[in-house]
Amino acid sequence: MTIRISPSILSADFANLERELHRIESADMVHVDVMDNHFVPNLTLGLPIVQRLQEVSPVPLDVHLMITDADTQAPKYAETGASSVTFHFEAADDPVATAAAIRSNGARAAVAVKPGTPVTQVLHHLDAYDMILLMTVEPGFGGQSFMPSVMPKLADARAAVDASGLDVWLEVDGGIAVDTVPEAVRSGADTLVAGSAVYSGDPAERIADLREAAAAARA
Ligand code: DX5
Ligand code: ZN
Repeated sequence: MTIRISPSILSADFANLERELHRIESADMVHVDVMDNHFVPNLTLGLPIVQRLQEVSPVPLDVHLMITDADTQAPKYAETGASSVTFHFEAADDPVATAAAIRSNGARAAVAVKPGTPVTQVLHHLDAYDMILLMTVEPGFGGQSFMPSVMPKLADARAAVDASGLDVWLEVDGGIAVDTVPEAVRSGADTLVAGSAVYSGDPAERIADLREAAAAARA
């Protein structure tokens, strides 16, 4: 199982995003948190900035949409050339169709569930998705504490993915750091988002530390 690290630029310097992207060149992807102040009580950035990030980023974009109207909005983000577009299950009327629209626009299609949302309905349509994001905090803000209560859901998702034989990645987002990586990886995560844990120090060193923690957890 390949482990991917996706630093969140929510914790980066928003006045110097191009420079911040180059500080995480050793990452597998860059996690871009789009918030609309409706689906979550916070506002970050939108389509024009994601388009520009896509043009200058040395690593593929992992766009996480925390916005309403996912069905109409998510395919537009896939058009930017982003590698992966994640929308929230709670914000979509037709998640399977929305995932198909993301794929037809050239991105990997991913669906996210909040900590309190069951993953069962997503697992019933596993072939529709390229990645499932299990939120390990309530979406909206960086720097919150990891919720271990999400781990049984992650383990269920890992069992379903392995049984299916499909190449569906399992991402965790929220409170991921060297001390929480072992539990997340042992419960089945292969794609790790980390915002404050990466940008609160030297990003390249922090990314290496996260990789080491993940490798140790699997050994
Ligand atoms: C929270 C965002 C996360 C956030 C993670 O709603 O989706 O991606 O940046 O930040 P940390 O790693 O600090 O919990
Ligand atoms: Zn996120």
